Amino acid sequence: MAILIDGKLTSEQIKTEIAARVAEIKAEGGKIPHLAAILVGNDGASQTYVGAKVKACEQVGFQSTLVRLDAAVSEAELLQVVEDINTNPEIDGLIVQLPLPKHISVQKVTDKIKPEKDVDGFTPTNVGRMTLGWPAYVAATPYGIVELLKRYKIETAGKHCVVIGRSHIVGSPMSILMARNEYPGNCTVTLTHSRTQNLPEITKTADILIVAIGKPEFVTAEMVKEGAVVIDVGIHRVDDASKKSGFRLLGDVKFDEVEAKASAITPVPGGVGPMTIASLLFNTLLAAERKIF
Ligand code: GUN
Repeated sequence: MAILIDGKLTSEQIKTEIAARVAEIKAEGGKIPHLAAILVGNDGASQTYVGAKVKACEQVGFQSTLVRLDAAVSEAELLQVVEDINTNPEIDGLIVQLPLPKHISVQKVTDKIKPEKDVDGFTPTNVGRMTLGWPAYVAATPYGIVELLKRYKIETAGKHCVVIGRSHIVGSPMSILMARNEYPGNCTVTLTHSRTQNLPEITKTADILIVAIGKPEFVTAEMVKEGAVVIDVGIHRVDDASKKSGFRLLGDVKFDEVEAKASAITPVPGGVGPMTIASLLFNTLLAAERKIF
């Protein structure tokens, strides 16, 4: 049986550590970390995610501000809201929940966020700094995975790490982090994607397999080497009449059959997902304490 890499438990531990630091800051009369989130429109998943982020702020003793804007808000108005937060000394970290409505340029909005407050790690400055190995805000999902590998003491040096998916948010930064000359890293990395040929041949050689392809149960047992460490970034709601909620959650990995072969694996839910919020809180703490810039 594989070791279950418990992201829910680990994220709770990280939140406890952050809450302890907030208590110290309060005792020292320092500034309480303050996260601002901008949510545009009524996308259901985005509302759930932002709600969870605001709730997590409360849990650790941070201040939070949620700015809700109508889906019809103009790009110029949104840019002005970002600028107001950029210059507001009370606010340490800012996230703009994605996706944005089609009439708004994600690129323009991302580029408007002051890198010092970019706790999502999405701005060119932070992506560039992360790539160079400089102090940087690292995007929440890759950072959460790095933290899981560390806390579960997964050996990485010299291993073959295969990443499936090349998104700016997960696959691409993950590939850079796993190749870095530090722990966890020092892997030989193969970054694969939808156009990769002979994918199962490649994944079968992975000691560490990180799956962020966005397709439910895409990775099956035949694609996995015996003893591999498998990290599943996917999360999909599928209808299931036998559940009270009417749905169940699936990852990008066919969990039951892959678990039988892996040495360690993240479940869905309760794996990478909860770690992303812990990472965001950690970045916001770094921002409040001016640890990166
Ligand atoms: N949408 C999906 N993931 C994320 C994330 O990590 N940050 C933001 N701002 N939006 C997202």
